[in-house]
Amino acid sequence: MKITLIGTGYVGLVSGAVFADWGHEVVCLDIDQKKVDKIKDGIMPIYEEGLEELVKRVQAEGKFVATTDYEMAVNHGELIFICVGTPSNESGAADLSYVFSAAESIGKYMKEGEYKVVITKSTVPVKTSEKVSEHIKVGAGSKKVDYDVASNPEFLREGTSIFDANNADRVVIGSGSEKALNLLESLYAGLNTTIVKTDLASSELIKYAANAFLATKISFINEISQICERTGADVKSVAIGMGLDNRIGPKFLNAGIGYGGSCFPKDVEALYRTSSQNLYDFRLLRGVMDANERQKIYFMNKIWDKYGTNLSKYTFGILGAAFKNDTDDTRKSVAIEIIKILRGAGAKMKLFDPAAMENAKKELGNDYITYMESAENSFEAVDAIIILTEWKEFASLDYEKLSSKMKGKVVFDGRNLLDPKEMKKLGYEYFGIGRHKV
Ligand code: UGA
Repeated sequence: MKITLIGTGYVGLVSGAVFADWGHEVVCLDIDQKKVDKIKDGIMPIYEEGLEELVKRVQAEGKFVATTDYEMAVNHGELIFICVGTPSNESGAADLSYVFSAAESIGKYMKEGEYKVVITKSTVPVKTSEKVSEHIKVGAGSKKVDYDVASNPEFLREGTSIFDANNADRVVIGSGSEKALNLLESLYAGLNTTIVKTDLASSELIKYAANAFLATKISFINEISQICERTGADVKSVAIGMGLDNRIGPKFLNAGIGYGGSCFPKDVEALYRTSSQNLYDFRLLRGVMDANERQKIYFMNKIWDKYGTNLSKYTFGILGAAFKNDTDDTRKSVAIEIIKILRGAGAKMKLFDPAAMENAKKELGNDYITYMESAENSFEAVDAIIILTEWKEFASLDYEKLSSKMKGKVVFDGRNLLDPKEMKKLGYEYFGIGRHKV
């Protein structure tokens, strides 16, 4: 099939590369010339396992073209996916200006007599695709253009997005047009998965409902961690015991410092706004957001309880800046927020993240922070180690050997990566989330 994707962020670039890998002819458009030039040279604008090799390969095979040429891109695709960003605006609602401007450009370059399906893949509030259709009409002006709109939300996780695209739990497609639904169904026919065909509004809502539910699961276990701390229970055991119930499942039950990233905080808030706009007070979501805010303060309290609120006499080794493991992304990272709170309290820090050093530097600058070349170097003469991102390699460091480098033998484990009993054996004072202090 001939496919065009507008926007080369996580969604557009990964989906485009994967579609090309499936054998389709793909054009990926971005209005940012520098970004497009880099992609052509095989330099990815984002860090994603396996993406660079994949894009280089499909480009070499002539199945994937990156461009800034809107006219060419719109003419190419029978299926045109809108994959541009939908950041939160000041009120917490999704800012749809990029989506609508893409829709107008699509209308502008569409030709009469050529049928297209315009699909929203960006995460957009329910009812947006209807408005996309209106914007296409505005762009088309007096031309008689033939198109249908559809919604096809993506469920890719950063860090594993190529795997996720090839191994989708489900594919959701929504449209009022049978023709559009059938074309989209044939695009995904090679995947061994369930295809949910539904109306536009349900498809759009499924994405928000799924992200908000996962965020709720995280906030729920974080709240349980508070009960654990007050009763002597261990949240890891509680999560295992809960997760073995098939109806609950083990995933997204890791208690920590709260969820972050470019999706959950924005999408939970946007769903809350949608509910308010529809005159419904989705109180459960307010609770989810509140719990997420509180969780980082609970974590900070452990540090303040030990050292006091003025931390200017202390230096901490910080492990992690990314919003989760296996990514360089620091957008809405709780790790970054905690580092800023520590800095506000006067602490000096020796920071290491396996992938996010550059982004961390951009967000944090050099005041109070030294950027280290390895996790091990972060242990040098520090009062405590603070783990903020769930990178697997932080769990397998040689804590026994490294303790001799430290000034104090203390670990604050914001992701419950380590075993408290093991840490006690090694002589550490260990603080986890929802676990006994040892
Ligand atoms: C999330 C969804 O998982 C994807 O399905 C969705 O497609 C994507 O948003 C999106 O809307 O584009 P992502 O933001 O990449 O994916 O990250 P997640 O793996 O979901 O993690 C989100 C946050 O939750 C991270 O800060 C992570 O550390 C935290 N988390 C996750 C926990 O605190 N505990 C857990 O058990 C799981």
